[in-house]
Amino acid sequence: MGGRIRIVASGDYLHTIGTDKPKDIGFEVFDPLAGLIDLTLLPAAPQTAAVAPTDLANADMLLMLGQYLPESSIAPAAERLVVVARAGVGVDKMDIDALTRHGVMLFNVPDALTEGTAAGALALMLAAARNMVAQDRLIREGRWDDRQHHRGREIYGKTLGVIGPGRIGGELIRICAPFRLRVLAYSPRLTPERAARIGAEAVPLDRLLAESHFVTVCAPLTDETRGMIGAREFGLMRKDATFVNVGRGPIVDQAALTAALKARRIAAAGIDVFETQPVPKGEPLTLLDNVVLTPHAVCDTYELRRDVLTVIARELRDFARGEIPRTVVNPEVLDRPLFRAKRAALLGRLER
Ligand code: GLV
Repeated sequence: MGGRIRIVASGDYLHTIGTDKPKDIGFEVFDPLAGLIDLTLLPAAPQTAAVAPTDLANADMLLMLGQYLPESSIAPAAERLVVVARAGVGVDKMDIDALTRHGVMLFNVPDALTEGTAAGALALMLAAARNMVAQDRLIREGRWDDRQHHRGREIYGKTLGVIGPGRIGGELIRICAPFRLRVLAYSPRLTPERAARIGAEAVPLDRLLAESHFVTVCAPLTDETRGMIGAREFGLMRKDATFVNVGRGPIVDQAALTAALKARRIAAAGIDVFETQPVPKGEPLTLLDNVVLTPHAVCDTYELRRDVLTVIARELRDFARGEIPRTVVNPEVLDRPLFRAKRAALLGRLER
């Protein structure tokens, strides 16, 4: 297994910040290793596709944005592939068990996304509650005088419910402080002490749903959260509730959400993530006027993308110096003989 270190970037990696220059994604940190590293940018590919097994031939490291990574892509590359970096936080499109079995370490960069996503969630909350998209349309359609039929709802002094109060949910609570909200939080293992540390009260899900004016989903997609919010849960919410989802689409039953909004069972919603992405044209949710939609882009700023990719480059450079990234998703891999052997071989190849 001699030769240069081959780093492969998935076909959606660079296009997110509109560059094809490695220096724009922080790769100048590899300059001291010049001559030892090859970076291959795969041709543009949609996020509905998996990384093709043939693209990973002889790859040592893989940079992933939003494509799928099933076992059928991992296994053929497993002799050499030692690390996968996910330029984001969610790892629901990757077969983590297969990565571990094949001795491949996976790390993500949750911290780099926290502030951008929390700010985006707040923007969706405000835009949906204040009816901004419908009001925007009034002007474009010459219907100024209809504005009294499109009033917003107040934010100050209300109750915010955070489902999944992790990094992003915690930051959302922090930046909402000026609105003087009462904050309820739910996740299955949330302790009262941890909730109190982020300024929230830990409550059962049903109580959060029944009492919150703003119900926000910030949770990752797992077996536990899939389908967690459906018709029953929308039935428990306040009629004046604004529902926000910046977690993952399949946490919510989208047909039930659409029905609740259409019947004005709840007042409004701000939705960034969907059951099927990209959202098909004509999808019933897109036909409603009390929902604000963003295309899984609520965190997506130029600054954030650049930060994320720069952090990844630094973590990979440090990995090549023998360090372990701070946020390994499958830490059990670190003791696997296969991973240890591949890592030792890679470090050996880098010794000049
Ligand atoms: C964005 O949704 C991410 O998981 O990185």
